[in-house]
Amino acid sequence: MTSMRVRVILRVMAILGSVLSATPASARASYDAALRVFRLDGGDITYAFGVTQAGLLESVYWGPRLASEDTLSAYDLPGLSSVDPAASISGQEYPGWGGGLYTEPTLKLAYPDGVRDVVLHYVKHRISGDTITIELADISRPIHVTLRYTIDPDTGIIGRSAAIRNDGDVPVRLDQASSAAWSLPIGDDYRLHYLTGRWAAEWTLESRPVTAGSTVIESRRGSTSHQANPWFAIDRAGLSTEEAGPVWFGALAWSGSWRISVDRDPIGDVRVVGGLNPFDFAYQLKPGESLDTPIFYAGYSGHGMGGASRLLHRFERTKILPGGSSARLRPVLYNSWEATEFAVDEPGQMALAEKAAKIGIERFVMDDGWFGARNNDHAGLGDWFVNPTKFPNGLKPLIDKVHGLGMEFGLWVEPEMVNADSNLYRAHPDWVIGMSGRPKTEQRNQMVLNLARTDVRDYVLKAVDDLVTKNDIQFLKWDHNRNWSEPGWPGIDPAEQQKLYVAYVENLYYIMRELRRRHPKLEIESCSGGGGRVDLGIMALTDQVWPSDNTDPFDRLTIQDGFTHAYAPGVMMAWVTDSPNWVNNRTTSLKYRFLSSMQGGLGVGANLSRWTDADFAEATRLVAAYKQIRRTVLQGDLYRLISPDNNSERSATFYVSPDKAQAVLFAFLHSSTKLDRMPSIQVTGLDPAKRYKMRAIDADPNAADPIQSGAYWMAHGVDLSLVGDFQADGRIFDVVESTRR
Ligand code: GLA
Repeated sequence: MTSMRVRVILRVMAILGSVLSATPASARASYDAALRVFRLDGGDITYAFGVTQAGLLESVYWGPRLASEDTLSAYDLPGLSSVDPAASISGQEYPGWGGGLYTEPTLKLAYPDGVRDVVLHYVKHRISGDTITIELADISRPIHVTLRYTIDPDTGIIGRSAAIRNDGDVPVRLDQASSAAWSLPIGDDYRLHYLTGRWAAEWTLESRPVTAGSTVIESRRGSTSHQANPWFAIDRAGLSTEEAGPVWFGALAWSGSWRISVDRDPIGDVRVVGGLNPFDFAYQLKPGESLDTPIFYAGYSGHGMGGASRLLHRFERTKILPGGSSARLRPVLYNSWEATEFAVDEPGQMALAEKAAKIGIERFVMDDGWFGARNNDHAGLGDWFVNPTKFPNGLKPLIDKVHGLGMEFGLWVEPEMVNADSNLYRAHPDWVIGMSGRPKTEQRNQMVLNLARTDVRDYVLKAVDDLVTKNDIQFLKWDHNRNWSEPGWPGIDPAEQQKLYVAYVENLYYIMRELRRRHPKLEIESCSGGGGRVDLGIMALTDQVWPSDNTDPFDRLTIQDGFTHAYAPGVMMAWVTDSPNWVNNRTTSLKYRFLSSMQGGLGVGANLSRWTDADFAEATRLVAAYKQIRRTVLQGDLYRLISPDNNSERSATFYVSPDKAQAVLFAFLHSSTKLDRMPSIQVTGLDPAKRYKMRAIDADPNAADPIQSGAYWMAHGVDLSLVGDFQADGRIFDVVESTRR
């Protein structure tokens, strides 16, 4: 019998075993001392790992929730052959590079004497509530790793991180420090899904079979990146669909360079290793120092990609975002960027604010151009004082005006950057990231401030804090418009310079945390040239994100579809802008633009001075309709009914409120041909026994609209007669207590 077969049988036996476990049924985090197995139960999942006889910490089970009396065991597997030793095929939870490991390590290091291997063995553990802490140590040198596991009782999403501590008396250089390795059950039809993109084209969903070898998704850019996003989902080609079948998924809480590697090893096992990107990484741990890795969250759903994203959305809403379950719903905002670009001034912004207030906008945001010598993107970044020509009386008159119109006031900032043409750079040319004596590549004419320096961190914090303290500002759109290049930290020991990758991001988080502490009502949007910095790390400190600079309402359908695979619609801002749109010169109706944007946090970014009275009237109606469905869209369950991917002619999304009292359908048609009829749209997620009245999104709520059971709407479907190019429709379903009409 091959060792692969042995393993399958052992694992099946482990799962189906009927020996009574010592674990109390109520415990969410537990340890079976006899079998040396740790177990986390939460939501609909069970996760288990154990200590082998050899002392390695090995993955045991990750999938649907098991009965509390089921027994799970960790096994010392024999090597497969002389070239596939046990260490390499055993699915370790946190493998060090050593002991014959040829698969992806989580930890790789080097001592000054040339020793470069590390073999981590279990030492002890602690269990407290939903958390298990495991202490690992190298077999002979004083390097310790503390693994932390927490499980969310609601969603079963597990957060894992590692703290690597040098307890010796010589420095240790870490060359790779990942957060976790996740092992999937044995299977041969795994399919990986991940998100890629570029500026104005973020959130493209890629899918590929997990075949032998590695798929690496990563950012080497110093921040999260447009190019790839630190999220993955793996389903099974033979079993999984949008709404059914197993899906394992995960997301890294880190806004710096990161890497997730999905490997299928020579014996067919699939593992996901993720954390700080080892590319160009070197972190000196002095004696007594430790490094905490970012948290790598992961979960499991038996309800397809849709179920996986709904779990993630709920987790983000309740456990990641500031405010958790009691966070405010996103205010409807206006943003000036596409209307005025850098040409902002007091009268122009006041005029826009008056028009914005008329349609029901709740937050007015002045974008780039208000500070320093900022008339274009060549100057001013770094000088966070109000431009005296554009705002001779400071910001107060505009802010007062906006408040007087009943709206909050928000401001664009890009605090991590500097233009060469700025007072800040002239005073502190040494404050930017770069390599001594080498050119500094500029992008959008700007350089990146070295936030890892304490003096720069303190300057940036003070500049933004002053701005928010001296002006009555409720919201900051925090931008980050370029990636790093020449990522050096001039002026310090070369051996320490690559700490930049960690220290920069930690200081960014520190600044945002401190600003929120000092200004508890301040809200922040994470923007990075569009969607270049969206991840669970920044989301813990920001209230909403800007998914893309691409505001074409048709392109947005695929952008938003990709986005919602990983992130909650409740943070996804979407603006209604002008038509034809600048991206594709495409013309769409105001209704189409609104319905595209109403699927997330609604904003308006059009030049309102060009709008007709009819535009204002229609926008006012649609903003009012949005406010009636906002809680359902932002906090409900999202069902992606028809994907806009692969040049689909149609697409549809459906949002159901947590209590199933309201649902909203958005449907889009690209173009009809040859008298095509729109097929009925089978909605899902309603309560079959409840009765729902369905009305058009922009119609009178008291109109005589059809009332049917949830069962009817889900089985019979909804007939929409969309005909033409770029057509859109929306329907609201409200539970009614009344009898059949
Ligand atoms: C970035 C943002 C835009 C806008 C401009 C301003 O590109 O993504 O929304 O704020 O900067 O310069």
